[in-house]
Amino acid sequence: MPTEAILNIGVLATMDEGEGPLGLRRDAAVVIDGGRVAWVGASADAPAADTAVDAGGAAMIPGFVDSHTHTVFAGDRAAEFDARMSGEPYTAGGIRSTVAATRAASEAELAARTQHLLDEALRSGTTTAEIKSGYGLDVATERRLLEVASRFTEETTFLGAHVVAPEMADRRGDYVDLVTGEMLAAAAPLARWIDVFCEEGAFDVDETRRILAAGREAGLAPRLHANQLTMSGAAALGVEMGAASVDHCTFLSDEDVDALAASDTVATFVPGAEFSTRQPYPRIERLRDAGATWAIASDCNPGSSFTSSMPFCIALAVREMGMTPAEAIRAATVGGAAALRRTDVGRIAVGARADLVLLDAPDPVHLAYRPGVQLVDRVWRDGAAATTWEPRA
Ligand code: NIG
Ligand code: FE
Repeated sequence: MPTEAILNIGVLATMDEGEGPLGLRRDAAVVIDGGRVAWVGASADAPAADTAVDAGGAAMIPGFVDSHTHTVFAGDRAAEFDARMSGEPYTAGGIRSTVAATRAASEAELAARTQHLLDEALRSGTTTAEIKSGYGLDVATERRLLEVASRFTEETTFLGAHVVAPEMADRRGDYVDLVTGEMLAAAAPLARWIDVFCEEGAFDVDETRRILAAGREAGLAPRLHANQLTMSGAAALGVEMGAASVDHCTFLSDEDVDALAASDTVATFVPGAEFSTRQPYPRIERLRDAGATWAIASDCNPGSSFTSSMPFCIALAVREMGMTPAEAIRAATVGGAAALRRTDVGRIAVGARADLVLLDAPDPVHLAYRPGVQLVDRVWRDGAAATTWEPRA
């Protein structure tokens, strides 16, 4: 494989060895070989490579790891957003309008829309994305969504338990049977994870426990939509079930925070959802004091958070949740990797995937300091300079 050296990086945030919480190295270089990072060190000491790029003293960070997206869907809910901004509350019910549009869409249309959203995400620095099903809610459509998701990522999640399918609204027991039976059997070969929207208007704690247990039985690892609209007990359930991550965590009790801190379960925050639903932002202080691990994700979906931009989420987390810029940048890289139980992404170290983002900025802090500005200059994904999200081989 030809090697490539990126020289003259003013500030390299490795999330690994180096100065401070971002593992900074100054006047640094990175050498890429075969899709992996082969060397990290002082630019002056960089070994010869087949090609070289001059970073011009700019900052570089690992590609963002977006551990929570719903990027396979059809339809549009701008009118619902508009109504919310005039005072309507967000409810789980809006999901059903996306389900109707998604069921009616062809696989080619769904794939094209997903490609478009992932291209957009890549241009703002995302190089790893988890993708959920959950807008099909019948066996054939859930399978189709996972087929599309699998074309783009190995981090696929079966979310048949997003809400009860509209045609089974008065037969929720039968729907849980379907999700844990035939639908799970169809989804399992295409998914790594199982997720449940555990919330008022979706699934309660007992139903969620049953669905996650069935998923585990079928070889899928649990993660959860938890404590988004209420203090539902879902975060505690996630810890109990060994979930890799409990996501949203808009409302956490002190007991939830302590349980998270004592566990391997990551708390994943999605401040784009608080933005887009006008909910209060959760604060980070209690998690920081308790020593919990947290991540930030986009939750990119047409209802509650229609952004693919991790820099936007970082800026919100800093301004509205009390994170320092370093905490937010870690949460969007190495934190997202922890939420996916990955160590090969989210950091820049020898052997890690060469997923790199060169910023049009002298310091990573600019990601929060210059909100809304396109600061991503160049992206390498899997070792290759990329302007579009290559589907998997
Ligand atoms: O993460 N909470 C459940 N699912 C999505 C929203 C889905 C929708 O409104 O379409 C979320 O917020
Ligand atoms: Fe979500």
